[in-house]
Amino acid sequence: MFGQRKISKFMPVAVWLAVFAFVCILFAHDKNPEEKLSIGERFHYETAQTWKGALGDMFRSKPKLPPQYKTYRDSKKIELPKPQFRGIALEEAIEKRRSVRNYSDKPITMDQLSQLLFAAQGVTGHMYGKALRTAPSAGALYPFEVYVVVNNVENLPRAIYHYSVLDHTLELLKKGDFRSKITDAGLKQEMLGDAAVTFVLSAIFDRVRHKYGERGYRYTYIEAGHISQNLYLQSVSLGLGSVCAGAFLDEKVNKLIDVDGRKEAVIYLHAVGSL
Ligand SMILES: Cc1cc2nc3c(=O)[nH]c(=O)nc-3n(C[C@H](O)[C@H](O)[C@H](O)COP(=O)(O)O)c2cc1C
Repeated sequence: MFGQRKISKFMPVAVWLAVFAFVCILFAHDKNPEEKLSIGERFHYETAQTWKGALGDMFRSKPKLPPQYKTYRDSKKIELPKPQFRGIALEEAIEKRRSVRNYSDKPITMDQLSQLLFAAQGVTGHMYGKALRTAPSAGALYPFEVYVVVNNVENLPRAIYHYSVLDHTLELLKKGDFRSKITDAGLKQEMLGDAAVTFVLSAIFDRVRHKYGERGYRYTYIEAGHISQNLYLQSVSLGLGSVCAGAFLDEKVNKLIDVDGRKEAVIYLHAVGSL
């Protein structure tokens, strides 16, 4: 009896203390530092994870979750060979990996292209109805779409294609020779046009913002690195050369694959060619 009375007596105090702590966390958080921040500093600072941010996020409205997979229904589909699971030792690929910017005229094969696409974003498992990929993704939300500017691949016409992850096929977007356009958009980096194929990694931000808010941008940039590293190591294993490229004119590259640069934007390029 005594214990019960004691609990009910202190209950309102405990509730008020909890409310007070909640309000303190919410409002007593870091204010902007005194000095003026650069855009990069502001981005990093304002997407930093804090307890206040985590609490605030629970109440903040987030964008709707866009479709998890992009498909170009009316496009011509190109079947890809099945990926293989043999090659050099991972340790050897890691040791040999180097950025290669000069390629020979030898075309790469459809088998090699298929293997590279699979390494970038191939489906390797399923969980709760979701297709899990070769590269990790925050919350398994997979913001990336992979496009390829094909220049020198055996039995595949020059064009821009979209990689359809679910059925491991290519969807034809634009026929033609885009070597000079991709080089131009890539700040005249010749390797982008010389490569047998240039991978264009573009992200649909709302897939990640839907869950993680603005911090989702950070996760997206990090994820691009995972995909690119898979491309690097797969290229070594196939005896090909490759290099990533973060230096490009955003607007031009976005235009090349017809994305708006806001809801979906190109984050990274990766050129691959024969040695
Ligand atoms: C985020 C990022 C962006 C890069 N952008 C370019 C680029 O635009 N052009 C280029 O030739 N190399 C680019 N690189 C490749 C680096 O120049 C290269 O990794 C570095 O010189 C080390 O050489 P290694 O990759 O052979 O070890 C980039 C690398 C990273 C990680």
